[in-house]
Amino acid sequence: MSQTQKVDKQQIDYSAHAPSYDQSRFVGDANVYLEQLRRRTVHKLLGQADGTQRVLDVGCGTGRGLEYLASAGYRRVVGLDFTREMLAQAQTKVTGLGDYGLVRGDAFRLPFADSTFDAVMSLNFLHMFRLNLQQRILAEATRVCRPGGRLVIEFESIHKGLFVSRYLEQRRVKHRTKFNSLWEMRQLFPATQFDQVRVLGTELPKLHALFRHAPRLGQAVEAIAHVPPINWLAARVVVRAVKR
Ligand SMILES: C[S@@+](CC[C@H](N)C(=O)[O-])C[C@H]1O[C@@H](n2cnc3c(N)ncnc32)[C@H](O)[C@@H]1O
Repeated sequence: MSQTQKVDKQQIDYSAHAPSYDQSRFVGDANVYLEQLRRRTVHKLLGQADGTQRVLDVGCGTGRGLEYLASAGYRRVVGLDFTREMLAQAQTKVTGLGDYGLVRGDAFRLPFADSTFDAVMSLNFLHMFRLNLQQRILAEATRVCRPGGRLVIEFESIHKGLFVSRYLEQRRVKHRTKFNSLWEMRQLFPATQFDQVRVLGTELPKLHALFRHAPRLGQAVEAIAHVPPINWLAARVVVRAVKR
């Protein structure tokens, strides 16, 4: 009997990753540099906060996105995650931040009423699920977002670098990682439901190996990843869509 593939699971337990998650992803000059690029991209799409807007971070993990929100001036924030141990790590970052709450829950059944939030964000999360599950997660995120509010969602791009290597990589890892195409992205954010859909690339392939030593120059050069059609060649893209 075949086992359920990781991309078909709805709840992915990260308790084994929690103790080393931040150390392995956010420490070191290459990681710090990449995070600067990603944070800048998310800030650009979220816009400056006025302090009253409510924001939800779905699959918040150890609080990477919560820190982004705090540094952009957002004061009313909820982080939701399925794994208690990840939330425990996030707690250390949000203590003392004002109206920041953490909730254990499931992205497929968000424990909030319709239109609760002004913005719903999800970073480094959707790539863990197959397209039909991504659609269901986005339907829930859209439900809890108010009309006129925005979704800000990070994806892995299958067009990374325009090299065949990414397509081959997708064949190799398709049981556990989903890279999205431009066409799938259009499908996920249909014009009937969303307005002002904007896609920014975060980092271009390989450049961090060079620019981690010159981050300011790197940020200036990699800003080109925000511009279409270069945005699709980035490793990660962030989509901002306004709910109709
Ligand atoms: C790769 S981590 C990303 C964490 C964070 N957003 C970041 O960018 O660092 C994925 C997170 O999704 C959480 N997760 C998995 N399935 C979930 C579900 N159904 N609902 C909510 N969170 C889930 C895991 O516990 C884990 O913390």
